[in-house]
Amino acid sequence: MIIKNGNTIHLQGRDISYIMHITDEGDLLNLHFGRKLEDFDYSSMTDEWREGLGFATNAFPLDVYPQEYPAYGYTDLREPAYRITNKYGDSVSRARFVKCEIHEGAMGTADMPCLFGKEARTLEITLQDDISELEIRLYYVVFDEYNIIARHAVIVNKSDADAELTCAYSASVDLPMGDYKMVHFAGTWGREREMFSTPLPQGLNVEAENARGGSGHQVNPFAMIADAGADETHGNVYAFSLIYSGNHSTAAKVDQFGILRVRQGINPRGFSWTLKPNDSFCTPQSVICFSQNGYGDISREYHKLYVNHLMRSKWARKDRPVLINNWEGTYFDFTEEKLLNIARKAAEAGIELFVLDDGWFGSRNDDKSSLGDWFVNKNKLPSGIDGLAKKVNTLGLKFGLWIEPEMISPNSDLYRAHPGWAVKTARREPVEIRNQLILDLSRSDVCDYVINTISKMLSEANIEYIKWDMNRQMTDMPYEGFNHAYTLGLYKVMSTITQSFPNVLFEGCSAGGGRFDPGILAYMPQIWASDNSDAVARLKIQYSTSMCYPVSSISAHVTASPNHQCGRITTLETRAGAAYAGAFGYELDITKMTDTEFEEVKRQVEFVKNIRSFIRTGDLYRLQNPYESNYCGWEVVSEDKSRAFVFTCKILAVAQSKNPWLKLFGLDEKARYRSVETGEIYGGDMLMYRGIRINYDMRDFAARVIVFEKI
Ligand code: GLA
Repeated sequence: MIIKNGNTIHLQGRDISYIMHITDEGDLLNLHFGRKLEDFDYSSMTDEWREGLGFATNAFPLDVYPQEYPAYGYTDLREPAYRITNKYGDSVSRARFVKCEIHEGAMGTADMPCLFGKEARTLEITLQDDISELEIRLYYVVFDEYNIIARHAVIVNKSDADAELTCAYSASVDLPMGDYKMVHFAGTWGREREMFSTPLPQGLNVEAENARGGSGHQVNPFAMIADAGADETHGNVYAFSLIYSGNHSTAAKVDQFGILRVRQGINPRGFSWTLKPNDSFCTPQSVICFSQNGYGDISREYHKLYVNHLMRSKWARKDRPVLINNWEGTYFDFTEEKLLNIARKAAEAGIELFVLDDGWFGSRNDDKSSLGDWFVNKNKLPSGIDGLAKKVNTLGLKFGLWIEPEMISPNSDLYRAHPGWAVKTARREPVEIRNQLILDLSRSDVCDYVINTISKMLSEANIEYIKWDMNRQMTDMPYEGFNHAYTLGLYKVMSTITQSFPNVLFEGCSAGGGRFDPGILAYMPQIWASDNSDAVARLKIQYSTSMCYPVSSISAHVTASPNHQCGRITTLETRAGAAYAGAFGYELDITKMTDTEFEEVKRQVEFVKNIRSFIRTGDLYRLQNPYESNYCGWEVVSEDKSRAFVFTCKILAVAQSKNPWLKLFGLDEKARYRSVETGEIYGGDMLMYRGIRINYDMRDFAARVIVFEKI
């Protein structure tokens, strides 16, 4: 709901309000973001910010007010939302209110992924700076049934000469004085999205940012600002999620009066964009969310929103096939016969999709060559991709394929033909990472080439799944702002291909979980969460990934033990247990399993087919925090509360330890539930308010999976 009352503009979601006020001078203030207020008219209130500040004059009026989209260099000397050098060479700006309009439906960003939905409404506010000759349009998408506001801005150069944009955040929010912390998600390859919590003292700019070319292993474009004492179920939490896959920043700073400014958008580090006369620049969308009840509530809000209003693939709302991927099973060392043996055994276990990973094209037998040469290596696969897909289909499995379309190996026919297509500067030899360079997707001819090549590949064989990888960071960018131009090209390529092949299930990947962000999810409903497939390492990775991203989007595989990334030995039960609440699959050589293991795989596949629908559509509750305890647990409750899936792992064995009671959430307190495994019956209230004691096997990494059904 969007209400304009005099000079007050009030956006309402299900339980939230977002309130702005236009001053007599035309400056746009940010008055409230938080719990829903029924009625609010600031025009009738006295000025809250002028009192007691000791200003004898009007010296710095904007500096003391909460700003909606703060400008640079005028009387608000805090961090700006945008900075533009005008035709006169200065960057001072003050954009004032001109008009606002309300539109039906979700208005999105140009050429970038964004929320969709006819049932939404969009507020468009136009501001103008007469001296710098700038127009700024602010957009706010609101859904009556969600607690989110999606913001983006469009900046237009109305002057008759070039202007240079060096900072353009999507959203800026000034929060009242309080004791806050920032929760952000940082890591590296194999340790993606670990959860960190940092207090926000006055004067420090705390910034979760990445400028490595993609959204990155190192910092995710999602962060929460919360009461210092907030946790999974308690406290005020303001969350910021950026629908963007390039360099990003979420920054928070407490000012001299205790007001906290939070900004989210494209990273200003390494960013610059020339606006010719009448050119406009559109920022990506920042989806902000509020809850009074801790992180869990925030997660469930994003999960539903992203499945229903961001992810465009029909697969977002369909059960995913149980897959087997050959990567950790064979790496580059495979023949058609070896692959078909794996597929045959997988079919016997009830697995539904066979995925051929890296090494099938050009002359690629290691990672040193052939990216860009997307034609099959007939020495390895004499029947070609089409022939192999047919044989796999005959076994009763769908066929899927790995590609890395944004890349080019210097040792490839493509590079020999088009050395100028790689990202590089004019005078420096470009840096190879994993022996590869990046294709310059800021060029439309290169985008067209990628679109045509991948489209041809998908048309020539029955490929029903694509794993779209991206295995390096970006160096040698030819100019400031290149990363954004690349990201726009990437989105053009991804949207064209995914729209042309709507039946194909696309999975995103970037050296594991290096590009796990809402921008990719808009096109690809699942993303490989990490190359670290160790079940115990995955506890933390998946626990914190689920803070923003739906469990159905978190691709999780059962791999061999000892684990290939960290050598840990775990049972098949623990490995599958950790992967069930995700896009589930296997990644090992199933032909090498013992009969007992194989029988267990069969049971697991049957089990996952039974629960996957409600896991995909249900509500996630995180039960035990692996960052703070020796346990990790989560629960998914079906939408109608009739079934619940519980996973819990006791990480290290402890002699004589007493395990904590596990209290569930989200059940029907008046109903009774039966444990499918033991047949024991419990009241919903008892499971939630008293809890149950879990017995774990006496060993490290002992996990339990329990399904409760309402009777
Ligand atoms: C990346 C992916 C892996 C695998 C390899 C293949 O590292 O994350 O899953 O596909 O590439 O080279």
